[in-house]
Amino acid sequence: MGLNSKKVLVFGGAGFIGSNFVRFLLSKHPKVKIVNFDKLTYSGNLDNLKDVCKDKRYFFVKGDVANSKQINATFSKYKPDFVINFAAETHVDRSIHVGSLEFVHTNVEGVFNILEAVRQSTKIIKYVQVSTDEVYGSLALNSRKSFKETTTFAPNVPYAATKASGDLLCRSYFSTWKVPVVVTHCSNNYGPYQYPEKLIPFFITRMLEGKKLPIYGDGKNVRDWIYVLDHCRALELCLLRGKSGEVYNIGADNEMNNLEIVRRVLNYFKRNKLWIEFVADRPGHDRRYAIDSSKIRKELGWKPKYEFKKAFKETIEWYLANQKWIARIRKKTGVFNPHIDLWRAHKLNNKK
Ligand SMILES: NC(=O)c1ccc[n+]([C@@H]2O[C@H](COP(=O)([O-])OP(=O)(O)OC[C@H]3O[C@@H](n4cnc5c(N)ncnc54)[C@H](O)[C@@H]3O)[C@@H](O)[C@H]2O)c1
Repeated sequence: MGLNSKKVLVFGGAGFIGSNFVRFLLSKHPKVKIVNFDKLTYSGNLDNLKDVCKDKRYFFVKGDVANSKQINATFSKYKPDFVINFAAETHVDRSIHVGSLEFVHTNVEGVFNILEAVRQSTKIIKYVQVSTDEVYGSLALNSRKSFKETTTFAPNVPYAATKASGDLLCRSYFSTWKVPVVVTHCSNNYGPYQYPEKLIPFFITRMLEGKKLPIYGDGKNVRDWIYVLDHCRALELCLLRGKSGEVYNIGADNEMNNLEIVRRVLNYFKRNKLWIEFVADRPGHDRRYAIDSSKIRKELGWKPKYEFKKAFKETIEWYLANQKWIARIRKKTGVFNPHIDLWRAHKLNNKK
């Protein structure tokens, strides 16, 4: 079974990964229909889908996953065959500085509402809940361990705790009602269309503004970086062939600390290390994430195909070529990561 002649309801399709996924499916499956349900929060942006918005196979619904009526109306109107959920509050700094209630509404209540709608539908073939490796907590820098699907949840920040809660709801809906749900845990993504509060586009926009690159703590926190289209390829496989009730970890075996990312950005812009500025560390800052993705590789035949060095350079070049995109979202949403300045002030105060 493929996705042709099927209707895929995508929640959060106007964000970073969601918009890449919508474009990926439309380009790969000539007869697929996609309904994008998105609240258009600060990180959701229809500009991300400008090139496909007139496609007759694409439909947009402005809605909030925390609103069950809107979800039920969308299920009744479009009668989807597949569901995938990217809708989330995603920025850890915001959960600390702005508050976590919105994270609970979207990442927990939202998943509950989608699960209820899927449970009541007789038509859904698969629901993929897109989650994160952050639910597993932190690994020591000197350990060789990596997160497996069986690793116990140990979230350290409200973002990760709300994502873990959504994942547990999915588990319970499969155990109790056999709702055909698959949960994925992916590592850090990079690529085009990412809201520039996140590390890589944040650094690129800082370089464009002639500003230093602020790094939390000692900069040795390790993340396992994956190109966004490799994530999309894995999610497509999970929709088509993922086994209901199962969890799949997705990662590209590409561990790198923040200092290495900064160095690569500085090298590209031909700047020296004087452009690095260390700021006070963020509370609950996980030290290392590493993903064991052997299950999805073995069971679904997935493996990453984008090489980091090339895809990273192309990502920087995408932001350079799309400075109007950056300018438009800055105009709409204001300063990209105001929280970093709070940490900088904190560090200065501590030095006095
Ligand atoms: N970015 C990563 O590195 C990464 C890694 C692993 C997993 N994930 C997960 O992937 C998903 C997408 O992440 P992203 O980086 O694209 O996030 P993003 O912040 O770029 O996009 C989130 C999207 O969800 C929408 N949204 C937010 N609240 C909503 C609500 N209440 N109702 C409807 N829509 C709402 C936003 O408008 C936006 O379009 C998230 O669930 C995230 O947890 C992200």
